[in-house]
Amino acid sequence: MVVAAAAVAQPRWRRSMEGAKPPLANNATEKRILSVIEEVRRTGRTWASVPDADGRMLRLLAEAAGAKHVVEIGTSTGYSGLWFALALSRTGGRLTTFEIDPGRAALAREHFKKAGVDHLVTLVEGDAHRNLDRLKEPVDVAFIDADKDGYVSYLNKLLPLVRPGGLILAHNIDMARDYAEAVTTNPALETVLYMEGAGLAVTLKKR
Ligand SMILES: C[S@@+](CC[C@H](N)C(=O)[O-])C[C@H]1O[C@@H](n2cnc3c(N)ncnc32)[C@H](O)[C@@H]1O
Repeated sequence: MVVAAAAVAQPRWRRSMEGAKPPLANNATEKRILSVIEEVRRTGRTWASVPDADGRMLRLLAEAAGAKHVVEIGTSTGYSGLWFALALSRTGGRLTTFEIDPGRAALAREHFKKAGVDHLVTLVEGDAHRNLDRLKEPVDVAFIDADKDGYVSYLNKLLPLVRPGGLILAHNIDMARDYAEAVTTNPALETVLYMEGAGLAVTLKKR
């Protein structure tokens, strides 16, 4: 029997993920947030923002972790923050997000308001390297997505705040080799790489 090459080239699960369906709103809150995500993407009001594969993963991890407090370094125009908001609207959590660029911070505020999640978000404007020192509350999920040569410094500041069993996520991991080294050589951490999007390092702070 001759089997077509295309039919055997990829495993069944892989083929079934191609053309994956967009996220589906399960209630009015999700619908409103997803509509702003769609609008921000369509109008191009993003700046170096996560691809949707990563946005969906951020939401999934934050919701699975039951996150009450997510900290994000690098808000940009709020695109990844909106994905987190999908989770936080269900977990009863909140987002603290840091952005140095006033124009992007203003757009992010606008997007959070339009999505009806501004009450869940504290946007700290200025240099996160300095402002992070003032953060004292426990963190369930941290997401590092700003200046790549600052990743290790952010990690060292965030690690004591992340609860045991919490997650530290880092974007564009191929551009932060020293960070990848730091999270893969520390026995208190377990790291896997999610490569469907732009390269997301997912690190568990072991209990
Ligand atoms: C890759 S973008 C973030 C994208 C965003 N997470 C998203 O997916 O929509 C990086 C952002 O980090 C900000 N940034 C860079 N250095 C920073 C610093 N020292 N403190 C705070 N924000 C910084 C930049 O202005 C930029 O908006």
